[in-house]
Parts: sequence; structure tokens; C-alpha cells
Amino acid sequence: MRARRPMLAANWKMYKSVAESQAWAEQLKAAVVEEGIGADRDLIVAPTHLALWAVATVLADSGVAVAGQTLDLGVEGALTGAVSAYLLRQAGASWVLVGHSERRQHFGEDDALVAEKAKAARHAGLGVILCVGETEAERAAGATWSRLTQQLEPVVARLSPADWAAMAVAYEPVWAIGSGRTPSPEEIGEAAAGLRQWLAAAVGPTAEATRILYGGSVNEQNLPEFWRQPGVDGALVGGASLAVERFLAMARIPLVPGGGTQ
Ligand code: PGA
Repeated sequence: MRARRPMLAANWKMYKSVAESQAWAEQLKAAVVEEGIGADRDLIVAPTHLALWAVATVLADSGVAVAGQTLDLGVEGALTGAVSAYLLRQAGASWVLVGHSERRQHFGEDDALVAEKAKAARHAGLGVILCVGETEAERAAGATWSRLTQQLEPVVARLSPADWAAMAVAYEPVWAIGSGRTPSPEEIGEAAAGLRQWLAAAVGPTAEATRILYGGSVNEQNLPEFWRQPGVDGALVGGASLAVERFLAMARIPLVPGGGTQ
């Protein structure tokens, strides 16, 4: 038996109209019904906020979960343009991405704000996919590990150990996102092992339940090698998730019950 349930998450970023999002979800749902895909792994889709309710409505009772791509702090209030964890829940989300590098880069989210968002999401009962990763310059300077722990520490400080059972940590090197470049499968496996060891020391036994994902230029060709690494529980996929056939190809990758891929 695998220690944790495998997970495959699609991050659509700022792509797809509501109608396109619905059509993608209908096709995924058909494959779930006809082929039973998703029976041995968690499938999660993160549409834009605008399309989230429509996608959640299509996928209701399918076993496929829906995630927000980000959230704002608070519950309800005079905060023009904001979307809280509570509102995401009401619209049908059960997960949310927090700390994606595009949020950090383009929307000024620092490590402390990311941690506050993770806390707000857990408070509302959402599962959190926490994204961490180093830039190319940090990697070149040998600072990968210190950057990862710098991102994790404020989150650990704000959450309870029990929260980590409802967390996934996505290791997403910034230089690998949308670039077609990835670390080697072995490097990804080492990062996953290092992250779990660090988490176990920081939060205790619940770290065994935290899913550790890889993200950054994942596609249907390279994912089997990544998934085969012990300790890599799945992937967060951007560009290659936009075409439903490509997401389905990844959702169909045969998994060995003891861990790894066939
Ligand atoms: P990518 O994006 O798969 O297009 O590299 C991954 C992500 O940003 O989560």
C-alpha cells in the first residue's frame, strides 16, 4: 500500500472562459464515469475564480475536487475584488493553491502573507496546496534548501500539526515553470525526501500524511518518471493540463499500489 493517496492537480492559471472550463469538466466527468479514472488517485482542478462554481457544478459527485488558485484574507466584508476561503468553499472548492510563484512574483505575496493565507484556508476547512520553490539565481548560489525552508517556516508557525494532514506541498522550482526545463527525476525524489524529513522534524508524525507534489513543466511524457520516485505523491500541472486529453493521459498513468508507476 502507498503511504499516501496519489494526487494529480491541474492549475489553469488565467486561461479558459467559463464555457471552455465547463466543456473540459464535462469531458473529464465522462472519463470518470466510463473508465473509473480517479479511483486510485485524487484529481483536482483549479479553474479561474469566475469558472469555479460552474466547474464544481459539473464535477459534483464525480469524486474530482475543485480548487481555488489563490484566496484573500478575511471572510466577508468591504474588500472590493477579494475572494475569501469561505466564498471559495461556498462555490464548491475543497482545496486552494497558496503561494504559487506567480502570486509571489506578480502580486507581491511574501512568505508571511502566504502563511496567513494558508492559515485562513485551513480555518475555512479547505485543503491547501502550498507551493514552494527556488529561483534560478538561488539554485545557482546553492541556496535552494534555505529558500525552501524559509518559505515553509512561517506556515509551520501558523498552522497546527494536525493541519498538515490536509496539506500538500508542491515543490515547484521557479525556473522550471512554463519553461520546458525540469530537475532530473532523482533530484525531484531527493527534494521530496528532504521536504518530508524537514516537515517530520517541524510538525511531527502528521507529516507522513502530507502529500508532496512536483510542479514545473510536467507533461504526460515526463510524469511517469517523476511519479516513480519514492516520496513523490503526484504533480501540479499547468500548461499540459489545459487540453483535457493531455490531463486524461496523465490521470491514466498506471500506478503500482506499493508506490511508483508501472
Ligand atoms: P507548468 O506550470 O506545468 O505550465 O510549468 C506549473 C505551475 O505553475 O503550477
